[in-house]
Formats: sequence, structure tokens, C-alpha cells
Amino acid sequence: MHILLLGKTGQVGFELNRTLSPLGPITAPGREDLDLTNERAVKNYLAETQPNLIVNAAAWTAVDAAEEQHSEAQRLNAGLPEQLAQYATANNARLVHYSSDYVYPGNGTTPWQETSATGPLSVYGQTKLQGDEAIQQSGADNLILRTSWVYSARCNNFMKTMLRLAESKTELNIVADQIGAPTPARLIAQVTALAIHSKLKAGLYHLAPTGETSWQGFAKEIFRLAGKNTKANPIPTSDYPTPAQRPLNSRMDTIKLETALNIQLPNWQSQLALTLNEYLEK
Ligand SMILES: NC(=O)c1ccc[n+]([C@@H]2O[C@H](COP(=O)([O-])OP(=O)(O)OC[C@H]3O[C@@H](n4cnc5c(N)ncnc54)[C@H](OP(=O)(O)O)[C@@H]3O)[C@@H](O)[C@H]2O)c1
Repeated sequence: MHILLLGKTGQVGFELNRTLSPLGPITAPGREDLDLTNERAVKNYLAETQPNLIVNAAAWTAVDAAEEQHSEAQRLNAGLPEQLAQYATANNARLVHYSSDYVYPGNGTTPWQETSATGPLSVYGQTKLQGDEAIQQSGADNLILRTSWVYSARCNNFMKTMLRLAESKTELNIVADQIGAPTPARLIAQVTALAIHSKLKAGLYHLAPTGETSWQGFAKEIFRLAGKNTKANPIPTSDYPTPAQRPLNSRMDTIKLETALNIQLPNWQSQLALTLNEYLEK
């Protein structure tokens, strides 16, 4: 199996680069080797490398900036996955791709299922959904792992921002009415490896730890585990306006993936403890 990994410098891509290595040789171009906004360069790269497994962890993930920089987000999140799916269809390759809880409309309190109606609230969510739909319509052998609130010991993310702010602030106001499950990039990579190795049936699967929390609950647990005295005050989303609207309900039912892989996903608290330890020991 020859694996092409895109996005190796990102949170998920970094973890995939080490976790997937027992599965076969990996070609992992960085931005300096392959600009993914360049459709022709991607076409030529695919023709030269001829992968039979593409794992696409590259994306435009700047949610607020996507409201302005629509065309870049569109290319990375929708055009690129479509192009990769076309290659996979024509070359009998498998495509593994990552989707987002931001494709859902965020109403109610019931966890979303893979069959739930979508309804993105932001340009980011719209472009991610377009990418998913292009893959699904392509006829390619595909796995779409839809995840939420990704963080890791590397890159920029909520956990690292909270730890940085805790150095100088005694209290912080943090949104408490958006509910979901923080997902470490390491867990995503581990489950991806299992899914590839066990030849998981093609389709869309939710992937997140069990349990739920708010951003404020997440921050409280980060401070508690890191031994910080910073107080996390709950505020509503309306008190923290952002260019892009976020879903209030990001709960995702993961039973389809757990059943298909015969695994039990861990809870978000235990995953935070592992990720935080990794970060603090660096
Ligand atoms: N972050 C979240 O909270 C979240 C939540 C749900 C789903 N997801 C999805 O999970 C997947 C992985 O997310 P992540 O958080 O790991 O993303 P990330 O850390 O932002 O990494 C994105 C990757 O894409 C690469 N990239 C972007 N534009 C590029 C270009 N023009 N040419 C070459 N490379 C380019 C980046 O390279 P550089 O390092 O060079 O910029 C980086 O390696 C994405 O599909 C995302 O939509 C993320």
C-alpha cells in the first residue's frame, strides 16, 4: 500500500504521519513541495506518485477567516476533496477524509447521527459539506471521518490558548452554551489506522470521544489538570460575537463507528489528560 498523506504539518496530519507508518510507505508533501490550491500541481503530483491510499488531513480550518476568504476555503475544503475523489475513482484508490461537526445546524440537544440533515451556519461549514458531498457522489472508495473540536499538543488550538492565557489571567469568560466533545488529533490518527487496517466499509462515520462538555467545561478541566488557578466564567455565545456563527449543539453519536470497528471510544476527560501530559512534558 502506497499512502499519500496531505496536511502533515497540521494537528491531525502530524499524528497520522507517525501512526500510519506501519501500514506502508508514506509520501507526505508539505506546502513547499505541493501547494494544494494549485489544481494542476495536484493533478501532476497524483500522476507521478500514483498512491493507492490518500489520507487527506489538509483543510482550510480558519473558521472566521473563511467568511472573508471564501475562495481559498472553497478550494481546500471542497475543490481539493473532489479532485482527490476523482483520482481515487479513476485509479481504484481509497480516499480517507475528515469532516466537521460544523456541517450540522446546531439546533436541539440530540446527538447528530450520520443520517441527520445537515445545515451549516458558516462558510467553513458549507465548504466542508461540499467536500463531503463531492466525495460521496464520486463513486470513490471513501471513508469520511466527521470529528469535532480538534486539539493536540502541537499547532494552535483551544487547549494551548487556555494554557497560555492562564499564565497572565486570573479569570476568563468562556462560552458555555456550545456543547460537543473535544477530540485529540492523536485519537483521530489511531482510529484512522484501525479503520484502514480493518478495511472499514466505505462511508461516513462520526469520530469523537464519549461524553460532552462546553468550551467553558473544557477550559475548567484544562485548568484543573494543569494545576492552574484561573477561573473559567460561563458566558453565552451572544456575549462572544465572532464573524462565523458556530453550532450550539455539536454532539455526535459515534455508535456506527464503534460497532463497525468493534471498539469503545474513550471519554474526552481521559483523552485531555493524555494530551495535556504530552504537551507539558515536551
Ligand atoms: N480543528 C478543528 O477543530 C476541526 C474540527 C472538526 C474537523 N476538523 C477537520 O479535521 C481535519 C484536520 O484538521 P486540523 O485541525 O489538523 O487542521 P490544521 O491543523 O489547520 O492543518 C491543516 C493542514 O492543511 C495544510 N494546508 C492548508 N492549506 C494548504 C495549501 N494551500 N497547500 C498545502 N497545505 C495546506 C496545512 O499546511 P501548513 O502547516 O503549511 O499551513 C496543514 O498541514 C480537517 O479536515 C478539518 O476540517 C478540524
